[in-house]
Amino acid sequence: MSKNIESHLSEDREFKPSKEFSKKARISSMAQYKRMYKESIEKPATFWAREAKELQWSKQWTKVLDWKAPYAKWFVGGKTNICVNCVDRHVEEGRGTKAAIIWEGEPGDKRTLTYQQLQREVCRFANVLQANGVKSKDRVLIYMPMTPEASIAMLACARIGAVHSIVFGGFSAESIKDRLEDSKAVAVITADGGWRRGGVIDLKANVDDALKGDKTVKKVIVLKRTENEVKMKRGRDVWWHEEAAKVPATHKARAFDSEHPLFILYTSGSTGKPKGILHTTGGYMISTYTTCKYIFDMRDDDVYWCTADVGWITGHSYITYGPMLNGVTQVMYEGAPNFPDFSRFWQIVEEYGVTIFYTAPTAIRAFIKAGDELVEKHDLSSLRLLGTVGEPINPEAWMWYYDKIGGGRCPIVDTWWQTETGAIMLSPLPGCTPIKPGTATLPFFGVDAAILDETGQECKANEGGRLVIRQPWPSMLRTIYGDKKRYKDTYWSDYSGMYTAGDGARRDKKGNFWIVGRLDDVLNVSGHRLGTAEVESALVSHKAVAEAAVVGRPHDIKGQAVVAFVSLRAGVESSDALLKEVRDHVGKIIGAIAKPDDVYFTQALPKTRSGKIMRRLLKELVATGKATGNMTTLEDINVVRNLEALVQKK
Ligand code: WT7
Repeated sequence: MSKNIESHLSEDREFKPSKEFSKKARISSMAQYKRMYKESIEKPATFWAREAKELQWSKQWTKVLDWKAPYAKWFVGGKTNICVNCVDRHVEEGRGTKAAIIWEGEPGDKRTLTYQQLQREVCRFANVLQANGVKSKDRVLIYMPMTPEASIAMLACARIGAVHSIVFGGFSAESIKDRLEDSKAVAVITADGGWRRGGVIDLKANVDDALKGDKTVKKVIVLKRTENEVKMKRGRDVWWHEEAAKVPATHKARAFDSEHPLFILYTSGSTGKPKGILHTTGGYMISTYTTCKYIFDMRDDDVYWCTADVGWITGHSYITYGPMLNGVTQVMYEGAPNFPDFSRFWQIVEEYGVTIFYTAPTAIRAFIKAGDELVEKHDLSSLRLLGTVGEPINPEAWMWYYDKIGGGRCPIVDTWWQTETGAIMLSPLPGCTPIKPGTATLPFFGVDAAILDETGQECKANEGGRLVIRQPWPSMLRTIYGDKKRYKDTYWSDYSGMYTAGDGARRDKKGNFWIVGRLDDVLNVSGHRLGTAEVESALVSHKAVAEAAVVGRPHDIKGQAVVAFVSLRAGVESSDALLKEVRDHVGKIIGAIAKPDDVYFTQALPKTRSGKIMRRLLKELVATGKATGNMTTLEDINVVRNLEALVQKK
């Protein structure tokens, strides 16, 4: 990590948008950005009311913000329907024949839905949900492949005021079960499968497993996607297409309170139990709308593509809600970037004339490794703007993205944000901000970001500290579902009245923010958050495991790899077979992304005399092969020396 920081500090390459790009962009000069930023911080009510008025409200708010730290209410008293704003509004305003979603399945099947077709599908499905007993504020768990129906399901929930909670399709039955128990969902929406690297992921079987012993779920609605054979439980399971055939394609939407819950999305924290991040309607709607408008500079003739999955916050805010609020045409792709090979994305960009492309550094690094020939055989000249999200981008990957994909003419927006923030918080504005490889540059409108030291003082230029947000913003999380105490403790207890992001960062002399990475026990594996405690608790649930300690190590493609130190129960012999079994066990409990890359079986873990595992030493050990830090509190130094030998041998 320290090497990264040094390269950041000495980064002097800087790129400015072309005159042509700037001239057309919504924000075309730094002076304009600064003026608007100043207003957004000093007069947030004026700023956000103006933005909010661009969308449809059936009752206007009486107050823009009600802030009693750490609880915010935005657009108080206002009533709106976010689904109507994403879909119906465009049909009403004459954009009904415009393509909303251009979809490509992994096997190569294709479908385009116009805004009008989307409206009919969403209305039908809203009727299906209601006919199946789903009511306002009910929680609905969605476990779907990347098909248009994933967005349709989300929008239909929002339309009737139900709260969706999506579980990423790569997560296991156990993970679904935990989330069902926490959210007490009344319905599950899933599919008979989804395509991934040429195979079918049996989503329905995972749902069936998760539902064993469940008492809250009344209905499971199953989309037919792969013709994979599934078991349908009488009275509980129904087919999407059969239900949709029974109801009309029109649905009268009612408006909901601005603070009506919109969705819960679970994310990893520093304890074993994922946090249900709760977002509400009005503020989230305005933040996702404005960030797309200004940061992606979305316009009528754009073809936008975000390669995320709707199972993550990026898919919520920058596939379903933000782009549709802007009425843009977007590409959606079901499968893996390397199926049948790593040219798939570039083939899609070329075929549909993608103009705005948003992906993750881990994907970029995988493309670099796959070789430039796969890029060079495609015409990428339609692209005009590139984005990245999920983790700090290393300068080499940034330069490759800029030159090879963007042809040196496309600004890159490096967007920093989190599940909790709901929308992008730090990012260049493509028409004005000078960009540099590795920095998310400056705060978006209304984002009062700062870097503080442990005493709460603002850090000097280039000094590392903790990233905080000092004022509420419209799309901020409202709470952790069912756990106010954890909400306060996790985000609002470091500094009074300020949101702590959990990231370490520094600012350079020009005010650019350089994110260093998580400060808590959360790993970032391929741009996805993974709690070390979650992986540890999965490990110790295996019968052979006595104790486990998990840390991250730098990884060329994934950013961080998962390393597990495992001590076995008395009498259990270590073996390669057991190693595989333990890894698979973690995959089964959490999902494939959590499978440790390295597992070290050891007699003992390095502990302090009071019994705490010294993760700091393990982190250093896996990064450098040696542990050198302060070891005076260590119970037994030999444990560390033995581990050193193990790690060095590998
Ligand atoms: C964590 C949030 C936001 C959607 C994807 C991840 C890291 C995110 C960047 C970036 C450096 C980044 C942070 C953050 N992160 N974007 N542009 N530069 N780091 O959402 O799973 O909630 O994870 O991802 O560490 O805290 P998430």
